[in-house]
Amino acid sequence: MNNNALEHIETASIDELRHVQFVRMKKTLEHAYNNSAVYRKKFDEAGVHPDDFKTLADLAKFPFTTKKDLRDNYPFGMFAVPQEQIVRVHASSGTTGQPTVVGYTQNDIQIWSDVVARSLRAAGLTNKDIIQVSYGYGLFTGGLGAHYGVERLGATVIPMSGGQTEKQAQLIHDFKPTALMVTPSYCLNIIEALERKYGTARDCSIKTGVFGAEPWTNEMRKEIEDRLGIDALDIYGLSEVMGPGVAMECLETKDGLTIWEDHFYPEIIHPETGEVLADGELGELVFTTITKEGMPVIRYRTRDLTRLLAGTARTMRRMDKIVGRSDDMMIIRGVNVFPSQIEEQILHIPQLLPNYEIQICKQGHLDGLHVRAEMRRDTEHELMNQLCTQLKNKIKTMVGITVSVELLMEGSLPRSEGKAQRIFDIRQPISENYKSA
Ligand code: DLL
Repeated sequence: MNNNALEHIETASIDELRHVQFVRMKKTLEHAYNNSAVYRKKFDEAGVHPDDFKTLADLAKFPFTTKKDLRDNYPFGMFAVPQEQIVRVHASSGTTGQPTVVGYTQNDIQIWSDVVARSLRAAGLTNKDIIQVSYGYGLFTGGLGAHYGVERLGATVIPMSGGQTEKQAQLIHDFKPTALMVTPSYCLNIIEALERKYGTARDCSIKTGVFGAEPWTNEMRKEIEDRLGIDALDIYGLSEVMGPGVAMECLETKDGLTIWEDHFYPEIIHPETGEVLADGELGELVFTTITKEGMPVIRYRTRDLTRLLAGTARTMRRMDKIVGRSDDMMIIRGVNVFPSQIEEQILHIPQLLPNYEIQICKQGHLDGLHVRAEMRRDTEHELMNQLCTQLKNKIKTMVGITVSVELLMEGSLPRSEGKAQRIFDIRQPISENYKSA
């Protein structure tokens, strides 16, 4: 097989794709019911059996899986094959204590490598490329997931992992990678290091960025593309479903992420009622893995909010850029606000940088937001008040809430080395947080 060519299924007819999905889904439902005590119990309690699955629409009869199911069965209780067939585990720490653990068979790792290689091909990369992987290696799926995909493509991998930002810049200068895989927020940090060291980042060898693991806006894309002189593309995934490579933006269209639907079947549901919504409607993304053996998930609720769109560059459907996680939605005086909406407004002001923090605080008796962002180094200090007002007004007009704004000098806010933390809830008096210390 030509390693740089598209796979047949990527351009097959929709009928063929749906047929493949149906066959694989049926097999997965049977596998889950027969080999996972957790799923057998869930299906029995919901009064459904894999035999009830007669068309793809019947999936709606099956119960959802949530993060709580993974936590309740910590660490290995969701695995559906004997331990000796599991060749790798990953875990994500999440915000609330206990990590969620996932397990892969050799075949799962093979498929994962294939979908990441397919994603890289969608980004226009080939076996001639040199790809620096700056996602963290370890329990996080980013580093190793990307790594195996690069090798599967036959490209050269630089397994840099996250952190050591000055060294990241040095390797980019010396090894001349043509592509970079990293979170968009850490990419900004690397760009700053390149600019510090070499005056500009635009002259470096990188032509393509494969960025994901956190929400980022098209405004952020433009900022990164301009400063690094590259095409920046979005890659999506989550450990419970596989890791990076569940969906990927195609270079030729840059119009949202193509979901590799021959392995991961998507639905959009109403976040409160659980009702399945039509393509095009905004709601919570739900995935059923249809080829995974080690830890199949049926109707896993991602908490990510987006909508499904018809395929363009490929047969498979696309998902819009993620608006945010339902967990990250702030409700401020009755208005739903996502960090990405604030990011958009910050980046509409040319003098401001994409490093920002949002503090949820008490303003009188009500909850309010305090936005902290940085001004570019060459901005005249006298402009500060004017820029504060400008940002405040933009957020008021576009997002619909009044916030307080604080502008800082470039370099004042902490820099991300992986997934950026944007929201800080400071409503609790500080002493509460240190009570047990
Ligand atoms: O973040 C896997 C990954 C690694 C994806 C590298 C892409 C690149 P988790 O740590 O389990 O896995 O976190 C999954 O991150 O539910 C989303 O909320 C968020 N996320 C991942 N990719 C994107 C993206 C990895 N492209 C969670 N846009 C998901 C927005 C993303 N959010």
